[in-house]
Amino acid sequence: MKTIYLIGFMGSGKSTIAAELAKSLSTSYIDTDDYIENKHEVKIADIFNVSGEKVFRRYEILALKEVSSYDVVSTGGGIVENEENFNTMNDTGVIVYLKTSFEEISRRLENDTNRPLWDNNINEKITLYERRIPLYEKHADYVVVTDHKVVEDIVKEIIDAIKGV
Ligand code: S3P
Repeated sequence: MKTIYLIGFMGSGKSTIAAELAKSLSTSYIDTDDYIENKHEVKIADIFNVSGEKVFRRYEILALKEVSSYDVVSTGGGIVENEENFNTMNDTGVIVYLKTSFEEISRRLENDTNRPLWDNNINEKITLYERRIPLYEKHADYVVVTDHKVVEDIVKEIIDAIKGV
């Protein structure tokens, strides 16, 4: 089976969907952020605070290469920041973009304090969102809209979309 890579902005539900998708397919899944935290024994927010985003991005590039043996991988929202990550994903699997509106993400992450790049003012958040959306769109093999849908239906849509790959 090819690896199914879930991409999308922070708060688009990648980790939740990865877990449910793997359960439905009776297979393994991993979240690149969890993998990085376990490997380096440090929280993502601390990597940003202590070493900076550049270091985190290097960890992320490596982590993605190291998890390709899993059937389902949920990626960090910034996976689109390095073109190399798309080579890794295209070489080993299919890319599913979980498309979520800015309004929905803002609602879901209203009380979130764990995401360094969400801990910014509203204009910076909008700028980041608007810069990344075309990148997710460009690289996705499949796009699944998540607004107003329950997890179960999103998982079904993904399974239907990737049938035969
Ligand atoms: C990031 C998203 C986070 C995490 C890190 C950076 C980003 O993952 O990798 O805080 O640049 O969008 P989630 O998309 O799972 O929140």
